[in-house]
Amino acid sequence: MEDLYYSDYIELDKILNSQHPKSFESLEEGNDEMLFIIVHQVYELWFKQIIFELELARRIFIQDGINDNSDDLSKVVHKLKRIGKILELINQQVSVLETMTALDFLEFRNVLLPASGFQSKQFRLIEAKLGLKMEQRYKQEYYKYTRRGSLSETDLQEVNQAESESTLKELIIKWLERMPYLDERYWKEYTRSSPADQRSSPVDQRSSQVSESDAGDRHKFWMDYRSAYQNSLSKNETGRLREFDKVFFEEGRGDVSPIAMQAALFITIYRNLPIFHLPFELLNTLSEIDELLSNWRYRHFMMVRRMIGLRVGTGGTSGAGYLEGTLSQHYAFREITEVATFLIERSKRPVLPNALKEKVSFNLT
Ligand code: HEM
Repeated sequence: MEDLYYSDYIELDKILNSQHPKSFESLEEGNDEMLFIIVHQVYELWFKQIIFELELARRIFIQDGINDNSDDLSKVVHKLKRIGKILELINQQVSVLETMTALDFLEFRNVLLPASGFQSKQFRLIEAKLGLKMEQRYKQEYYKYTRRGSLSETDLQEVNQAESESTLKELIIKWLERMPYLDERYWKEYTRSSPADQRSSPVDQRSSQVSESDAGDRHKFWMDYRSAYQNSLSKNETGRLREFDKVFFEEGRGDVSPIAMQAALFITIYRNLPIFHLPFELLNTLSEIDELLSNWRYRHFMMVRRMIGLRVGTGGTSGAGYLEGTLSQHYAFREITEVATFLIERSKRPVLPNALKEKVSFNLT
């Protein structure tokens, strides 16, 4: 058998013969279109790797009941951290393309009409697999496949299909909803925080009281936490207590249920407990991915403004204006990140019962 040769193994010929700038016949008369194509191709390769990692993470979560005691969770965190590293890298790559000036871009801009990064199916798949839904997208009308410059019908179908399968976000919500930390077995010896600790809030006590029937439904831990949260609010934040009730006991936030929001907050508050290290790492990495993706959106938007100012994009959107809209709207894990709104100081946290502490610690003896 013949030895495997490097360029055959990575199919280098195919890759290196896939750059065909349309605006010049020979390399001698070339302009920056070569750079433009190569940078886009490099991005698409990284998008492919991100999708691959995301799929592995989703597959682990899709199993019936992810086993928190196996290495499942650490595998997921590892995959997601790798995605974070790739996003860091592709954020830096924007500056390579920024060595091209607006005038350089004008040399060839018209040859690519109406093609645009807007049509990047892989980018849309990443967004969809993470959990961004069509109805949450800025300017949904741009996605109609009948619009010139939009995704093709088959590409759009694929994106819709990804959206309809369990997204990473939906899988994370289900996992959070199963968190067993409030199991009555562990809370028998729990001593409620002293009512004295709960007084002297700057928030009006009458407006903040929980009705008896509501109080009956709520776990004693959460009643104490609510009081401590109330005490932490300043006068101009009084509305937050009402929001706390809505988010954790009534409606949830966005598409995250109250129970899942409670679990996310609990993990965040007690993240120093050994059993919560990985779950916290996971939640933190999701916020990081959202942040890195929005850093990319920001860098791309700034680059676009420098390249084309206020002109419309080759894909027919309003250009920089459209991109700025996506920047404030397109987040998959906003609710998880915004759990920070409801944190209290470490020293004010309710003291957990020993039975629970033992359950969630590593007990080697
Ligand atoms: C000179 C450089 C670039 C310019 C002037 C530019 C311009 C634009 C514009 C104006 C849009 C909005 C859609 C439209 O009307 O065309 C857009 C969208 C997009 N571009 Fe670029 N782009 C550049 C480089 C890149 C690169 C290197 C990538 C990497 C893949 C990229 C990926 C995207 C993606 C994914 C979108 C969709 C963003 C969203 O809808 O959230 N672009 N681009």
